[in-house]
Amino acid sequence: MKGVVFNLLEAVIRRDYGDDMWETLLDAAGSHGAYSSLGNYPDDELMKLVGAASSALKMPPDDVVRWFGRNALPLLAEKHPHFFASHKSTRPFLLTLNDVIHAEVRKLYPGADVPVFTYDTSSPEVLLMHYRSPRKLCALAEGFIEATAGYYAEEVSLDQPECMKRGDDRCVLRVSVRKPKG
Ligand code: HEM
Repeated sequence: MKGVVFNLLEAVIRRDYGDDMWETLLDAAGSHGAYSSLGNYPDDELMKLVGAASSALKMPPDDVVRWFGRNALPLLAEKHPHFFASHKSTRPFLLTLNDVIHAEVRKLYPGADVPVFTYDTSSPEVLLMHYRSPRKLCALAEGFIEATAGYYAEEVSLDQPECMKRGDDRCVLRVSVRKPKG
């Protein structure tokens, strides 16, 4: 996992829970804490930090990951506004993930191991995103999608009729987006 992901986790933990909390998590995860954004670090190290946060904050690990995704995406949007500015709403943004956003991420962060989504766009209301990754970070995808809807001032309902965490061989993220009334 790229250092930038650790940098984002550090930023949101420090901001919302304080510097001491970040130090506590590093200690609990046996981690040195000096992450360079372009460096590569073991996936397991991120999962240890998530586990430590789960214990310290009394939240299930997937809730920590979803919270992280929700809070990290606005920081990514600040850093890379052009990905967002070229769209007006969530659905077209999500449809550019493989070909534009994560493709660009691979150039910006060489060696980045980004997931490839496949899409079912047969319904204009409900977008199905199929996700397969050995990291099983579907909760991160959920948090990113929720925050993307927030960015475009839309409301989103999200669930997973299939999930690797429940033994399925892929996750299916079912995304329905609405403009708020009024
Ligand atoms: C709603 C939008 C997005 C979704 C659903 C999404 C989903 C994901 C997921 C699930 C991962 C974890 C890797 C894995 O599953 O194997 C990931 C990794 C990553 N994504 Fe995205 N992403 C989104 C937007 C973005 C944006 C806007 C950026 C940057 C501008 C970005 C940059 C990255 C980076 C740097 C990684 C780490 C790759 C690595 O460590 O090797 N993503 N993304």
